Amino acid sequence: MTELQIVTLPDEVLRKKARPVAKFDDELQTLIDNMIETMRAANGVGLAAPQIGQSIQLAVIETLPKVDEEGEDIPDSRELFVIANPRIVWESREVIDGIEGCLSIPGYVGEVERAYAVRIRAQDRRGKNIKLRLKGWTARIFQHEIDHLNGVLYIDKLTDRENFWTDEEYYQMRQEEFEESEETEADEEGTVETAASESQD
Ligand code: NI
Repeated sequence: MTELQIVTLPDEVLRKKARPVAKFDDELQTLIDNMIETMRAANGVGLAAPQIGQSIQLAVIETLPKVDEEGEDIPDSRELFVIANPRIVWESREVIDGIEGCLSIPGYVGEVERAYAVRIRAQDRRGKNIKLRLKGWTARIFQHEIDHLNGVLYIDKLTDRENFWTDEEYYQMRQEEFEESEETEADEEGTVETAASESQD
């Protein structure tokens, strides 16, 4: 298998509507295997063909690991999907905001609203018709990758122009939020103690 070069903005292939996959031949199988390897090497959860310079309706997606009761990753619990010519046939009215990044826009993240759940029709790597019902993060990844096949990027869909950060800014923001929540907890404890000491007077 070969790791492929990931194209980044402002490469125009990212803005083109991809053409349908017509032949599910050996060449396509090799391309799919290479895309899977490329996605994994880049620590991605999804990769669409335009991101490696091929304007065809094909994407690979690997879900996040499932977690056990203690919040630890369950080994081998990631699920791999290959989708060709996908269509979203239903989406929930319920939407959810979440933070997304993209291998073609390295170093940045942004907040995007997505349908909480979707139903998708597509073809698998052999051309067989498949139906998928997805929700939560998995549904988000599919929506992000299907957007790629239409030349749409997450930066087109930010909840607000301000909700776009460098990785560094986002990390610091999260860190501050975390520290604030710790301080709030400490304050609450402090209030209880103060009240107790006051009542002693
Ligand atoms: Ni992307």
